[in-house]
Amino acid sequence: MEKWLLWTLLLITFSRTMALTENHEEENKERQRLPTQSLYKDLHRKVFLFPASSADSYVTLSPLKNTELQNFTVCLWTYTELTRGYSVFSYATQASTNEILLFRDSVGQYSLTVGSEEVTFQVQEPSFTPINICATWASASGVAEIWVDGIPLVRKVLKQGYTLSANAMIILGQDQDSYGGGFDINQSFLGEIGNVYMWDYVVPFHEGKTNCSQANVLNWKKMKYEKMGHVIMVPQLRD
Ligand SMILES: *[C@@H]1O[C@H](CO)[C@@H](O)[C@H](O)[C@H]1NC(C)=O
Ligand SMILES: *[C@@H]1O[C@H](CO)[C@@H](O)[C@H](O)[C@H]1NC(C)=O
Ligand SMILES: *[C@@H]1O[C@H](CO)[C@@H](O)[C@H](O)[C@H]1NC(C)=O
Repeated sequence: MEKWLLWTLLLITFSRTMALTENHEEENKERQRLPTQSLYKDLHRKVFLFPASSADSYVTLSPLKNTELQNFTVCLWTYTELTRGYSVFSYATQASTNEILLFRDSVGQYSLTVGSEEVTFQVQEPSFTPINICATWASASGVAEIWVDGIPLVRKVLKQGYTLSANAMIILGQDQDSYGGGFDINQSFLGEIGNVYMWDYVVPFHEGKTNCSQANVLNWKKMKYEKMGHVIMVPQLRD
């Protein structure tokens, strides 16, 4: 009886060890199979949740191209209860920490900064509902557009003829006052943010439906990112 028990125990231990070894081999194979491209993740129906105001929680996004820009469009989805100002999208270069800054100044007012020059936009914002916001800028005319939930705000003009520098540091959750740093807790984002897309041209939203798959600077379905501090990736529950 005792011998039988011992054999059973030995067998169990042996098969467990084998299973662990196999799993380990599978993992190793998996690792070897991973191409560098798999650093890019499809974040469809996922969002970043920033649970608290902080000066050290943020997400960096790696652009698909690192070139100079004369035109851009950036779109994001945000869901927040904040009434204070906060950074929506911070794009810094060595030339300007506010190369592009999309900032919500207060309820009903957004500002767009390009090459350190700022213009403001007024909007009737529904409170406590998610917002789809897009900003565009074209160097040739200097015209800047902001669209909130598909509605264009009064256009502004800034930095005509300017070229945005290459090698941007793109950060969600904080406003950069230095390249990749200089954060201020009172400008941090609190809530949910996702669906980040960026193009190196002005998307003609007035011409109809936009195909986000074509976004060629940042693409939520092909995103390389790094989370720092307290940021959680969760499913998107609302559109
Ligand atoms: C920016 O857009 C203008 C107008 O469409 C275009 O002529 C110009 O070539 C664009 N610049 C770049 C660098 O793509
Ligand atoms: C943030 O705002 C609070 C309240 O207005 C203030 O007491 C605090 O000094 C501010 N912190 C920074 C870093 O500006
Ligand atoms: C959107 O663009 C992608 C890539 O160019 C293409 O494969 C897809 O068919 C387009 N979708 C629609 C609805 O046009």
